[in-house]
Amino acid sequence: MSEARFPVNLPGDPDISDAPRITGRRILELAAKTWPFLRPLKMHLIFYLILIGLSGLVGTVAYTQGLDLLSNKVLVGEEKLLPIQASLLWLDDSFVNADSETGVPTEEQRKIVLDRLLVWMAILLVVAIGTFIAVWYWGTWIWHSVNQSLRVAMVERSEHLSLRHHSDTRVGDTVFRVYQDSAQIINLIQEGLIGPVGLLFGFGWAMLLLVFLAPSLLLALLVVGVPTLWLMIVFTPRIRGRALANRVANSDLTSRLQETFVAAKIIKANRAEDEALRRFDRDSHRALDAAFRVRLEMIVLSLLVMMMGGLCVIVTEYVMASWSNEGSSLNVPAVMVFLVPFVAWNLGAFQFGREQTGGAIGQGYGAVRMWSQLQDLFIALERAFFILDLEPEVESPDDPEPFPVAVEQLEWRGVDFAYEPSRPVLESLDLVADVGTITAIVGATGSGKSTLMSMLLRLYDPDQGAVLINGVDLKRLSVEDIRANTAIALQKNVLFTGSVADNIGYAIPNIDRDRIVEAAKIACADEFIDELDGGYDTELGERGVKLSTGQRQRLSIARAVVRDTPILILDEPTASLDAVNEQRVLANLESWGRQRVVFVITHRLSTIREADTIAFLEEGRIVELGSHAQLMDREDGRYRRFVQAETTGHAEAMRDE
Ligand SMILES: Nc1ncnc2c1ncn2[C@@H]1O[C@H](COP(=O)(O)OP(=O)(O)OP(=O)(O)O)[C@@H](O)[C@H]1O
Ligand SMILES: [Mg+2]
Repeated sequence: MSEARFPVNLPGDPDISDAPRITGRRILELAAKTWPFLRPLKMHLIFYLILIGLSGLVGTVAYTQGLDLLSNKVLVGEEKLLPIQASLLWLDDSFVNADSETGVPTEEQRKIVLDRLLVWMAILLVVAIGTFIAVWYWGTWIWHSVNQSLRVAMVERSEHLSLRHHSDTRVGDTVFRVYQDSAQIINLIQEGLIGPVGLLFGFGWAMLLLVFLAPSLLLALLVVGVPTLWLMIVFTPRIRGRALANRVANSDLTSRLQETFVAAKIIKANRAEDEALRRFDRDSHRALDAAFRVRLEMIVLSLLVMMMGGLCVIVTEYVMASWSNEGSSLNVPAVMVFLVPFVAWNLGAFQFGREQTGGAIGQGYGAVRMWSQLQDLFIALERAFFILDLEPEVESPDDPEPFPVAVEQLEWRGVDFAYEPSRPVLESLDLVADVGTITAIVGATGSGKSTLMSMLLRLYDPDQGAVLINGVDLKRLSVEDIRANTAIALQKNVLFTGSVADNIGYAIPNIDRDRIVEAAKIACADEFIDELDGGYDTELGERGVKLSTGQRQRLSIARAVVRDTPILILDEPTASLDAVNEQRVLANLESWGRQRVVFVITHRLSTIREADTIAFLEEGRIVELGSHAQLMDREDGRYRRFVQAETTGHAEAMRDE
């Protein structure tokens, strides 16, 4: 980001270089993007706004009338009631007609007016409280519904983004965007819609009333308005830059927090608590500083505007007080008397004028504050919508072909792939696997085995070449179908909070207990599950029972098996099983997998040996392919050396190459 865009970017501020610039067009775009989330609640919003508008109107009329009645008709008591006031208070014409000798209301009349006024006040108070509760409750419900749908949309979009995006993004950043940035949509409606409408209305109203009271007061307001606008223009980009820096810093802090807790074990094992704390402390300070700086900008602007407003209040009040002392006359048009019920400058008119100028200045001040908060809000929404704007790299075609009824053959044809352009991971890779076979993928760590398998699920697409099922490019099938037909037991297995049965039947709604038990048996998990106190209903996860790595691995195999798909991938899921258990699992899988295509990634010789085909991977290429016997026949073969190294226990022999 150039200096010109965010002139206040200070050393130590987080990097905000990829931040979008906020222009008038962007604001319109943001509004357009917000609309889909508001649309379902359109009618609610309309009626909500009408309710607010109406209560504002009623409140204003009640206020001016009440003020006039109380100060001029009751306290000072030298004026008769206006006809409209008399009818509102259910009083007869004697309160309007100047038929008494003195021309002023009697003591008794004044008392009656006061009583009636008090009745009105009590009624209005009850109505006002009721309306306030309704508006508050209804509004809260609307904004939170909107926020909820935005959050869900963001998470949904994140789920569809490629793994490449996820591996390039810090988890904490996405968490902050979904959790914190999105919440600003609540304020957008309040501060971007209702607030300004209310302020404009209030401001316009005060101005209108002042026109009738004394147009010269308007001039005073305008004199203050010009420098205020100038201040806003100067401060806007500063506040925006600081707001962005603040949100980025807090995103970083969230990421740091998440990383610290995820790595709790490693931190302890390495006695790195102090270092972890130091880093957290530093990020926390940065976030605090950033938050402080954005508030400081806002406060300085507020203070400057407030000072000018204060000056204006003093001047106008002085002028109005002099007019009232002199009893200067007023020329309020007849049609306006229900709003400005004063005939000359008196106590009521002075108070009224004070209220209106004060109101107009207050609304102006409110507008400035709202404007600065809007800057932060735009930044937050930009960050939230950023996720929604990301296009998933892997998408189903518009008109996908049906998934083959029977999977016969899988093929990688000339596949090139790189996570980062400069570091190829797979290079012109060819591999064919037929139904009813088990293919072992063997190779040193980092040689690309897991990557190869992830192409089958379309977690990533090849940069060159294609992956095919029965000769059909995966890109012509729907991603849904592909994933529904492929089960994978991962190297890093994840348990979810829930029962053992939930964990095995994960993502299969209403699954039979029988199927779960059967899958657990194939994965040799049923024995240890039966020993758990609650059996299949034992709670797992953070607040539940903890399992060993080998037990988790068997659960994740069961989770893959239970899905009963034609394609099964086991990515080193047996690494933590003892040899006996591993053999049993594999023997079970062999008979289970007869009608399927099975891939096993493993370092275990005993497993590899049983596979129909062994693909030996080196730096993203398959250097040898064949059965165990075939590959062992090769003098000086790579696989043969690998086997020798494993059996003689000299793993170094491989690494020294
Ligand atoms: N998300 C990622 N982003 C960037 N590079 C990655 C990513 N995942 C893996 N790599 C790189 O791609 C290469 C192949 O990784 P891959 O996980 O496929 O290896 P592997 O053969 O499964 O290794 P292991 O036996 O350790 O599981 C490695 O060099 C790794 O650093
Ligand atoms: Mg791997």
